[in-house]
Amino acid sequence: KLLVEHARQLVPVTRSGARFLRGDDMKSVDVMEGAPGGYSVLVDSDGVIADMGPSEEVEQRVDRGQVEQVIDASGRCVLPGFVDAHTHPVWAGDRVHEFALKLAGASYMEIHKQGGGIHYTVTHTRQASEDELFQAFSHRLSRMVRAGTTLVECKSGYGLDLHNEVKMLKVIERARRLGLVGISSTYCGAHAVPIGQTSKEATDDIINNQLPDIKKRMESGELTVDNIDVFCEVGVFDLEQTREILKAGKAMGLQINFHGEELHRLNSAEMGAGLGADAISHLEEVSKTGLTAMSQAGTVAVILPTTAYNLHLQPPPVRSMIDNGVIVALGTDFNPNAHCLAMPLVMNLACVTMKMSMQEALVAATLNAAHALGRSARHGSLEVGKVADMIIVDAPRWEHIIYQMGSHDSLISAVMHKGQVVHS
Ligand code: NIG
Ligand code: FE
Repeated sequence: KLLVEHARQLVPVTRSGARFLRGDDMKSVDVMEGAPGGYSVLVDSDGVIADMGPSEEVEQRVDRGQVEQVIDASGRCVLPGFVDAHTHPVWAGDRVHEFALKLAGASYMEIHKQGGGIHYTVTHTRQASEDELFQAFSHRLSRMVRAGTTLVECKSGYGLDLHNEVKMLKVIERARRLGLVGISSTYCGAHAVPIGQTSKEATDDIINNQLPDIKKRMESGELTVDNIDVFCEVGVFDLEQTREILKAGKAMGLQINFHGEELHRLNSAEMGAGLGADAISHLEEVSKTGLTAMSQAGTVAVILPTTAYNLHLQPPPVRSMIDNGVIVALGTDFNPNAHCLAMPLVMNLACVTMKMSMQEALVAATLNAAHALGRSARHGSLEVGKVADMIIVDAPRWEHIIYQMGSHDSLISAVMHKGQVVHS
């Protein structure tokens, strides 16, 4: 058993059992402070929160003889680990040269059409071995953990053929089994149309060849895949192709979680809500009717502030999403185009560039992000019975993790996943 004690602030986010918070409820983050001896969290040997509250009270209930590890959090804050709801973390070949092109004025789609962008990464990822990809991926995962992430969505999508997509999913599976961090894995074979194919041919290959093969590997226990993703965009997959691929994924039990309304409005928000999508990412160009449909369907909007920042896009209408009852979550979108592994920086960008409050950003980076992945029953808040995924922030108030932009390395003094210290 593990006991974290004497925290100055304990930030459960919620203790209500809610699976998500939306509208004004995002402003009422549960923060425990003011108890003279601070606050404690007791974790069971199975990595689940067994007790929490003022240290003086927990002290009376806990059997010290059973406690193997004690962490003194005096003067510090305890928060849930961050949930990163959208990443592309398995790849070879960085794109620092494209960063320079974009700074000089090239657009994302100009680079993509010339065979750069995703295509550049696909070429390098196809050439890399499973082991090489795994090494690079695990290094990135440990950097995410140091930045406080304890559950992360990880996409394939730089293989674009059966062999290479499966290779990427196997790399993600290896990391899942190692258990440094919680993983939700996503098949994103429809991330781009492979050079030399039409989008129709690529759609057919995904539905008739790739998905059935992945299904077999899921049934044999070789792979665990949680979500299906498509990049629905002009020049990539159109609305109908996206719908067909998502439906095929849903039919094999995958959660729908896709890229929509990023550069052009295709009404993929309405389409996704109609399919009962768990989440749609980006949404810079979403319409009012799209937002209403998502709100009614309970489809989570996964907001990726690094994309608009890097590509000089209009940010998505987050205020209007929150006002209209859309469930809002955050992700880094970590990929070679947006090289950011850190949720604290993402929360800062969400506050400054999208006018979220710090409370809203925290809910979006914890409980609501877990909900986007269908995991909020066990993750995303500190409540008795939930998984002990938590971080200790070396500051007198939790808001410092957002306010001190770029300082997470010095502010996060410990990260715990399933009650095990995975970084300190
Ligand atoms: O979410 N928009 C599509 N996919 C990624 C970018 C991937 C890449 O450029 O390699 C995104 O921004
Ligand atoms: Fe993405």
